[in-house]
Amino acid sequence: MAHIGRNPDAKPDFKTTMELGAVLPQTAEVKDGHLWIGGVDTVELAREFGTALYVMDEEHIRTQLRKFLEWTRYHWEDVDVVYAGKAFICKAMCRLVQEEGCYLDVSSGGELAIALAAGFPAERIVSHGNNKTISELTEAIEAGVGRIVADSFEELDRIDQLAQARGVRQPVLIRVTPGVIADTHEYIQTAAEDSKFGFGLRDGLAHEAVKKAVSLPGIDFRGLHMHIGSQIFVLNSFAKAIEVVVGFMEEIRDQTGCVVAELDTGGGLGIAYGVPDEPSTIEQFGKVIVDDIKEHCERRGLPVPHIMIEPGRAVVANAGVTLYTVGIIKHIPNIRTYVAVDGGMTDNIRTALYGAHYEPTIANRADQPRDTVVTVAGKHCESGDVVAIDVPLQQTQAGDVLCVFATGAYCQSMASNYNKQVRPGVVFVRDGIARLVVRRETYEDLMRCESA
Ligand code: LLP
Repeated sequence: MAHIGRNPDAKPDFKTTMELGAVLPQTAEVKDGHLWIGGVDTVELAREFGTALYVMDEEHIRTQLRKFLEWTRYHWEDVDVVYAGKAFICKAMCRLVQEEGCYLDVSSGGELAIALAAGFPAERIVSHGNNKTISELTEAIEAGVGRIVADSFEELDRIDQLAQARGVRQPVLIRVTPGVIADTHEYIQTAAEDSKFGFGLRDGLAHEAVKKAVSLPGIDFRGLHMHIGSQIFVLNSFAKAIEVVVGFMEEIRDQTGCVVAELDTGGGLGIAYGVPDEPSTIEQFGKVIVDDIKEHCERRGLPVPHIMIEPGRAVVANAGVTLYTVGIIKHIPNIRTYVAVDGGMTDNIRTALYGAHYEPTIANRADQPRDTVVTVAGKHCESGDVVAIDVPLQQTQAGDVLCVFATGAYCQSMASNYNKQVRPGVVFVRDGIARLVVRRETYEDLMRCESA
């Protein structure tokens, strides 16, 4: 089974904090022994807002969105970047995505509600999901979302009926599964033929779906969508999938006369969780996606479609860190040292769920060598509640601020209230200014939905 991040057999690297390089937020620096992000001292942030706390480097997020725009449009001007909100979404994030001129991918009614509350323009929203409920479809159509990505025959009928009842034609993309196995953890592969997502190409279902979409009066068939998986390092998987999907576009033209005007290739670009990780760059990713689509289309005499890409992780993962306070430290002779923090699997489930790798540092001793090996454990009631296993760390003691890097994607968005832990707040930092964009939950929040 593929692993997420680095090889699990790799030995701790004992790099200093700044030597963590691409793992860090782009504005990270060590000053007076402290870790600073966005021109703000993280030790001060922990003091002011309490821990656990997510801190996001706003400049880093903006730079990543700009790079995706730049390195795709460099090869073909008709490209849009659709940020995948499932990686991390809140109103402030939606506004930032809008300010950078990007689209937004939502995967539930809840994400749509947040986007609309932030004033995000509905026509720039792409709605996803393999089992959108009738209310979610209704909300999307009534809001006027720019695209619904249809995932089943039943859904096509539902969209058609809901749209017709409202006197509109809903723009739709058909999600296809190209049958390519991406080189990543099997839980986050999505385009194999045995998948709950989309319509298979080899079994002819995708073809049936396009024919159906074209025939329905409430549906404005725009094109195709694919998403082969997440945390992908090897761009060859994208190239293979694109070749298959453009072949399908030709088949559609030849058999139905219908031109596929849009192609959305999904997300999936991997990031560095540890120093040995060497993901492809946004520049390389943009070139493979856009050049391959152009080349295959030109070879088959097809017009190059409006291209959309949906990066999530590569936009926000390295921008974010989690700050904790060190609590109990337990030395188990000849086995390992557990450093327990005031959070854990409730704010970062990825280590327990996928065996993900994370690098920590002590933010108030960031200039000191990370010369011990510890396991950073959470405070929750199970042994699997660990954040980082056998990783280098400075000498530490209770009360230190422990920072875990690369937690900007799929941590806050997958957080839970297990053990009735309140979920952390989120602070955006930029140019020396910190702004709280999501406040920490309170005990009252935990009981908000309960009847008296
Ligand atoms: N588009 C679609 C349709 C997706 O399903 C996803 C992610 C993306 C875009 C964004 O992919 P990204 O660029 O972030 O790889 N919880 C897992 C990741 C699940 C990804 C689900 N879909 C994790 O923590 O690694």
